[in-house]
Order: sequence, then C-alpha cells, then structure tokens
Amino acid sequence: MSRTLFVTTALPYANGSFHIGHIMEYIQADIWVRSMRMAGHTVHFVGADDTHGAPIMLKAESEGITPQALVARYAAERPSYLDGFHIKFDHWHSTDSPENVVLSQDIYRKLKAADLIETRSIEQFFDPVKGMFLPDRYIKGECPKCHAKDQYGDACEKCGAVFAPTDLIEPYSSLTGAKPVLKSSEHFFFKLSDERCVAFLRDWTAGQNARGVSHLQSEVLAKTLEWLGDNDGTAKLGDWDISRDAPYFGIEIPGAPGKYFYVWLDAPVGYLASLMAYCQKIGLNYDTLLDPEGDTEQIHFIGKDIVYFHALFWPATLRFSGRKTPDQLNVHGFITVNGEKMSKSRGTGISPLRYLELGMDAEWLRYYIAAKLNSRVEDIDFNPDDFLARVNSDLIGKYINIASRAANFISKHFEGQLRYNGDEAVLDAQWLAASDEIRNHLEDREYGRAIREIMAHADTINQGFDTAQPWVLAKTLAQATDAQRDELQDICSRTLAGFKALSVMLTPILPALTERVAKALFGLDRSFVWTDAGVLPTHVAPFKHLMQRVTPEMMGQLFEPPEEAQTPPVAPGGEAIAPTITIDDFAKLDLRVAKIVACEAVEGSHKLLKLTLDVGEGTHRQVFSGIKSAYRPEDLVNRLTVLVANLAPRKMKFGISEGMVLAASHANEDTDPGIYLLDPASGATPGMRIR
Ligand code: 2FM
Ligand code: ZN
Repeated sequence: MSRTLFVTTALPYANGSFHIGHIMEYIQADIWVRSMRMAGHTVHFVGADDTHGAPIMLKAESEGITPQALVARYAAERPSYLDGFHIKFDHWHSTDSPENVVLSQDIYRKLKAADLIETRSIEQFFDPVKGMFLPDRYIKGECPKCHAKDQYGDACEKCGAVFAPTDLIEPYSSLTGAKPVLKSSEHFFFKLSDERCVAFLRDWTAGQNARGVSHLQSEVLAKTLEWLGDNDGTAKLGDWDISRDAPYFGIEIPGAPGKYFYVWLDAPVGYLASLMAYCQKIGLNYDTLLDPEGDTEQIHFIGKDIVYFHALFWPATLRFSGRKTPDQLNVHGFITVNGEKMSKSRGTGISPLRYLELGMDAEWLRYYIAAKLNSRVEDIDFNPDDFLARVNSDLIGKYINIASRAANFISKHFEGQLRYNGDEAVLDAQWLAASDEIRNHLEDREYGRAIREIMAHADTINQGFDTAQPWVLAKTLAQATDAQRDELQDICSRTLAGFKALSVMLTPILPALTERVAKALFGLDRSFVWTDAGVLPTHVAPFKHLMQRVTPEMMGQLFEPPEEAQTPPVAPGGEAIAPTITIDDFAKLDLRVAKIVACEAVEGSHKLLKLTLDVGEGTHRQVFSGIKSAYRPEDLVNRLTVLVANLAPRKMKFGISEGMVLAASHANEDTDPGIYLLDPASGATPGMRIR
C-alpha cells in the first residue's frame, strides 16, 4: 500500500554555515526518503532556515545589517551544499515567512482558547545600556561555586555547576559590560503542567503510530519519562515560557504589542510553514494532507540535543492547537571527528564545503556515514583511516570491481548480451528477497547493517566469479565448445545480475553513481526503484569508469590546517603573521573611535594608565591600558584612539576594564621598546565603527 510521508530535518539556525553535523543528519534523512520513494511511496521532504531569536538579531546588529540580510546571506549558500551532497529536499523555506507567522499565531490563538496560555510577571536581568532583557548566555560573571571568572549565566564551564544568572557573583552583560539590573515584565506561558498536557504527553511519548512503530526510540522514551516525572501524578514538567520582550527578532504575539514568540515556539512551526509553502507551489491541499484523522505520516529527523523540544513541547503544541501530532521522531547522536566532540557553532575539523572544494566525491561521505549509522541514539566517529579503508576496500574494491571484472568479457565476446543457464526465476527471486531485506533495514534506519549485508553479497559474487575462473575459459574461447561458451556467458551474466541488484540496494545511499549504472550500463532511462532488483538484466553496455579511489593526499588536505597557518609569513619586525581569518571573523570585532576624556596613572602599577573613554554611548567607559611607559596621562586627554568595544569586560586588580585600546609595539617590549597608540585621522568622531 502506498504511503504518504511528511519528512523533516531539524531547521538550522541561519547565523552560520552548515557543518558536518548538519550534513550527517541530512544524509541520514535523505537516504530514508530516497528508499521510501523507490518503494513507490509519496514523500514530502522539507527543510527551512531557523531565523529568529536574540543571537541572530545581535549578530546582524554587530555587522550593521538587518537580521533579514544576515539570514539571506546564509540562505544563499545552502543550495550548493545540499546539491553537492545529493540531498534532495522538495522545498527549503524560512521561519521568517508569512506562512510561519499565520501558523504560529493561529496555534497560539488555539492554545489560548483551550485555556492553556497564562501570563505571569517574571523578574529577569536587563541590560540598562542596551535596553534589553538578557538571555542567559549573554550574562556572565563569577561562578558562585568555584569562583571561576567569566562564566555564562546558566552553568559553569570550569566546575560544571548549574545555576540561574541571578546566582552569578558580579554579573555583567557580555553585550555592553554593564551591570544588569533585575526588572520585571509580563511573560506568556504554555501551561504544560496542566493535567491534560501531562496526560497527553504520557500517552504520546509511550505510544505507537498507526503502523505499530513507537513514536520514540526506547532510549528517548526513557529520557522523556524522566522529564515527565514518575507515573504518580506529580508532574515535574514546568510551564513553558513562550514569550520574549522587544527588541527581539521574531513573530509578534497577537494582541500583545512588544511581545514576541520565543524562537523555539515558532521554529518547529517552520516545518509546517515549509510544507504549506510547498503545497501552494505544487497545488496540493495542505489541510487535507495534515488532517489529524488522515493517513499522512509525519516524521522528524533530529539530533539528541533537541529532544526536549520535539518530544514534549512540539507534540503538545500540535495536539492542543487541534493539529496532527508527529508519528515518529528519529533521533541520532552526534558526529565526532577523530574522537573529538564538535561544537555546535564552530563545527569540527572537517568543513563540508572544503570537502567538496577538494573535489572529494560526496558519495564517499554518504557511504561512510551510512556504514556507521544505526537506529539508536549513538554518536558516530569520522576517522580518516577508516574512511579511506571503507571507501577504497569495500565500496570500490568489492562493489565497483564486480562490474569491471565481468562486463568486459560480455562486451568482448557476447556483444553485450546476457544469458543465464538454468532457472532464471530462482535468481530473480533470490535478489528480490535480498533487496527486500535491505529495504527493511533502511526503513528501520539500520544503515550500517544494510551495508554490511550488501558487502557480504558482494563478497559472495566475487568469490563465485573467482571460483569459475572465466578468464581461463575466455583465453581458449576459439577452441571452446558451445557449452563452455555458455558457461562463460552464464557466469558473467550472473555476476552482472548481482551487480545490478547491489546497485539497486545502494541507490538510496549512492544516488548519482547508481543512476549512472542504471543508465549507462543497463540502458534504463531512469534511476533504479526497488522492484528492479528482481529483474535480471539482459544486456550490458561496455564498462565505463564509475568511481575514483580516495587518496591519502586528499585525506591529508581535508584535515590539514589551512596553508597560511603552517608556514606563517614572517613580517619584517620578526613577528609571524597570525593565521588567516575570514571576513566573518573580522566582523566579530567591534572597533570604535574613542575619545580619551580623562586619563590618570594607576597607583600601585608601573604599567597601567586608567582611561575614561567616550565611545558615543551616552555613558563613559573605563579602560586600563599598559601604555604608561610611553605616555604621560595629561598628554592623552582629548586625543582620539581606537577601542575594541565588544571585548568582554575584564576584572583587574584595580577595577573592571571595559574594552581595550589599540597600540602598536614589537613582540618583545623589553628588547624592542616603543608603544604607539592608534590615532584615527582627523574628522573621525567618537562611536564611529572601524570596518
Ligand atoms: O538546534 C537547532 O539548531 C535549532 N535551530 C533546531 C530547530 S529544529 C525545529 F524546531 F525548527
Ligand atoms: Zn564553577
């Protein structure tokens, strides 16, 4: 029976490029989707950029552009990555779209009508300089437990303690360095502690979809049970704060001017928005497709870090706004590289774009990732030696090799005709059954197992070929009997039938390679579908080269630090130039023209001067600078200089330093003295940005 599937992957934040973790998830989902399509099911596979929230707003602001422009910049680079890795979304949308506004606001109205929205006044840290409430990650201070400095407002990176920003000692805003003040404001809450929600979530998390497949993997269910509390009626689930105050880049809450939906409210709604836009594009009825009583299966691929949002908030949001709930969450682990954990924002040592730029074959990575994946929430590791071995020895050495060995004999001696001795129906049935197994493993997301079985078939085919030694027969073909000729044709035909069946099985994983096989070798006018595995080929075209091997040099380049970093050019003064940065790295620096309004020596320090600076902010900043050996305080007053204005404030023995002024010096001031404060040319005024 043909199924209708609505499949999504997590929506990436629109303030960064894809990293290998994104690509892994998309490859996992893309393989699944392709396999389903090959089985004749209808799949709507959509993605979108996750655009809202404070980090994107602030990043755009620091670059002097609108959030929309920032989002557009990252959106523009998405297609080249997706195409490059053969990831075939039907549609890619944005949470900053009219569809998402309509859907998010409608969902909110329904939740409110169901009496599941409540407003409460809460106290939060507010940055008086910036004029905004501070998300936890923009508040820093001293850890209340171990007293490590400059820790984020929610947890200490040194000792691991978890706390509220209000617990920090000497908190400061990492945006301006200002001391945050507590301020109260009205917030909107989704009442997840309501007994209807708790009852529904207990049910849904432990439930199965119409096909008898559990909504959640067992380890994910175990986690949600922890969050939901023991089944004794005492829910641990708190209400969910879904609002943020202006300024915020997001969707306005209807009837509440100046209040916006928290990004995690409208982000998953982006799945629906993308599907809606896609439906409009191709003329499908969105409401029918997502009818809560309908047959469409809604399946989300996500990483283990965002389970809370997808296994609790999201189903409840959908259920209580009268919508269809998800049928399956497919949660995967992280990808480590050489055993090293990846940072969400920085990625790892492998850049997907660099991979493609080096001319490395996208399907090697698809194959390698598939070989490592299973249906559990386990991390997988990218290891260069393992990658090289699997691609060269297995994919090329075992699979591709089959075709090159057998096809030449058929082309040379039998004009491309394939012919089988004996019962073809048995052979058909055997390959169809084998491909069914693989199809099931792929549906169950047991990709590693599928690949192990495919390679075991490849071994069997290669052994059969070796045992028959067709090259011996071929050498003496002129004197051979008809039976011997038939035997040669038969063994090569069987080998190629096996190759074709394996190609069908590998099609979801290696779509481009197997399309070439289908068209160029077996004369089809389309890519393989699952039923092709049970049709013995009758003809093969002369063998053409199918796939390159990976070279150790490529692997080296993939991991090599950029050349600049290896042999740093040396400046005349003897100090090496620092490794190359991108324009994005540079944009992170906020350099401003500053006027020195006051300057004094610091008692007890032979190095420092204390500067009072006007950076056009309305208030003054205090900065300590190690330039005492070069300047008399009174000579600096009224001079302009350059300040790193977004440097995290630093607590020094003599007070807090709110930035850093720029000066030129040699690497070693003791042997090469001289410090020269930077001076903007006349005409510059305090607060101007240096770009
Ligand atoms: O964690 C993240 O990268 C989020 N941008 C994922 C959002 S998934 C969905 F809810 F939009
Ligand atoms: Zn600590």
